[in-house]
Amino acid sequence: MKERSHDQDLAQAAHVTVPRHVAVIMDGNGRWARSRAMPRIAGHRKGLERVRELVSVCGEKGVANLTLFAFSSENWRRPEQEVRLLMELFSSALEREVGKLHSNGVRFCVIGDVDGFGPTLAAAIREAENLTRQNDRLTLTIAANYGGRWDIAQACREIARRAVAGEIDPESVSSETLAPHLALADLPEPDLFIRTGGEQRISNFLLWQLAYTELYFTPALWPEFDRGHFEEALTWYAGRQRRFGMTGDQVEAARRA
Ligand code: FPP
Repeated sequence: MKERSHDQDLAQAAHVTVPRHVAVIMDGNGRWARSRAMPRIAGHRKGLERVRELVSVCGEKGVANLTLFAFSSENWRRPEQEVRLLMELFSSALEREVGKLHSNGVRFCVIGDVDGFGPTLAAAIREAENLTRQNDRLTLTIAANYGGRWDIAQACREIARRAVAGEIDPESVSSETLAPHLALADLPEPDLFIRTGGEQRISNFLLWQLAYTELYFTPALWPEFDRGHFEEALTWYAGRQRRFGMTGDQVEAARRA
């Protein structure tokens, strides 16, 4: 079989209209709750309903990978009570949903410094990951206690360790050396990034992995981001021409080769 080049793979990605990987910053839960005179946690609970719906729509549409930013390394700065209630929401969601995810063929993963959540939640996360490891319908990755800079730093730490051990020559270090040590190394890079809530920022999410991703921002608050909103984002994505630094003609030629 003829071996495909990296450019051919990119050119193929440029022509796939359904994204293989969607990454989402779910913003606006607090504002949604405040506008209804409800506590912020009510917005997060409503947000969890949207997560359930999105997972099911991704399965239907053939989106193979979904990555959600649930808790950033910076979210510890929130009021203590909100952090505590969010942790309770994560734990109870894990307990209640993992069985359903498993029976629907979903592989569940968490990226981030999971040990920061304490031994009980960390163990429950590892158990859910092990249970669903073989599933291949959809990979659902939750970024929790995650930051893009943390991710790059931990990959650099690993490279530095190997250099000190004499396993690699520091002069040979390139982006290809680093990439396998980053979170999500086993997945295609996100094709589509969505941020709800009206802000147009990456906010220390997948800094490395979003280099060529199409960025979609919507004013809809996360608890409002339903199937219809997601379909709008997919339609927008399908209309983009992705070039990965090449010209449009080069993309076309590489795809035909
Ligand atoms: C940002 O909105 C949202 C979060 C920090 C938490 C996201 C959590 C969920 C959607 C619920 C559970 C999810 C899983 C995967 C178990 P915000 O609070 O910053 O909103 P604001 O900008 O309006 O204040």
